[in-house]
Amino acid sequence: SWTTASIVDEQVEAVREQVGGKRAICGLSGGVDSAVAAALVQKAIGTQLTCVYVDHGLMRKGETEQVEKDFVAATGVQLKVVDASERFLAALAGVSDPEQKRKIIGREFIRVFEAAQAEIVAEAPSDEPVAFLVQGTLYPDVVESGGGTGTANIKSHHNVGGLPEDIEFQLVEPLRKLFKDEVRMVGQELGLPDEIVQRQPFPGPGLGIRIVGAVTRERLDLLREADAIAREELTAAGLDRDIWQCPVVLLADVRSVGVQGDARTYGHPVVLRPVSSEDAMTADWSRLPYDVLARISTRITNEVAEINRVTLDVTSKPPGTIEWE
Ligand code: XMP
Repeated sequence: SWTTASIVDEQVEAVREQVGGKRAICGLSGGVDSAVAAALVQKAIGTQLTCVYVDHGLMRKGETEQVEKDFVAATGVQLKVVDASERFLAALAGVSDPEQKRKIIGREFIRVFEAAQAEIVAEAPSDEPVAFLVQGTLYPDVVESGGGTGTANIKSHHNVGGLPEDIEFQLVEPLRKLFKDEVRMVGQELGLPDEIVQRQPFPGPGLGIRIVGAVTRERLDLLREADAIAREELTAAGLDRDIWQCPVVLLADVRSVGVQGDARTYGHPVVLRPVSSEDAMTADWSRLPYDVLARISTRITNEVAEINRVTLDVTSKPPGTIEWE
């Protein structure tokens, strides 16, 4: 629309002015905000921007490919992908405690991201230093944090040798004046695929906090399949806009007896956690149509051999959180 187009023009101009002839880095999470921020900055400064995507191996089916292929195709952005899934799995091995999982994933993420960042800084020509870090900060985040803009002082103590101890970046925050729905409109205006622009919230620690029990590659594969089926059926039923999100949780340490064909099974349950919400601070469990629930249940138990039971979480927030961990 006209207003969205003018927001884009205004921000492109502002980013050009701020960055000048220097370079910028933007971390992509797979989420809407970082994708739209990156696309805007790419439009403004082209190859002066390098994006970094850390693949922690905890994404849902197809999401990494969406960033690597669809996002790059739509924007032409320069992208550095770091496949760190082995490293994350190793760091998570045997860990069941939710807070510990979150700490480990956060820590490894910062280490991998900073190392990639340091490489990009080191590779830049000396007359075009990397001086900016792009962030997808939205208006509600600005208000919440008191409104300051600033610099990110990033300690690079885990980095390869020969680089400065501290890299100080100025922040570029082209979405600071926007609300979520406006960000989606800007993303659309910039030609980003619907799968990215209309994406529902997904936690940074990814599927790692949707496996109750220790995270393993096999468990991630099971959950990824079950989650993809639930998402497919919700989309097919036209329910994406009605629900805030629908985590699928694998109870990896629980088994129950079932029967399939003539054979007894002893598999794992998954929990469907569809919620409706305005802002994720509170939520109600979504009254999904029974036929949609039935299709999801039938498909998951038919198509994912190790899962033999599908259950529904009917708890509001509070007292339950949206995620199980
Ligand atoms: P809870 O489980 O606290 O979740 O009710 C509220 C919302 O936040 C999302 N969530 C996260 N998002 N990093 C994120 O970016 C995280 O570590 C994280 N943990 C929870 C969750 O999916 C829900 O939308």
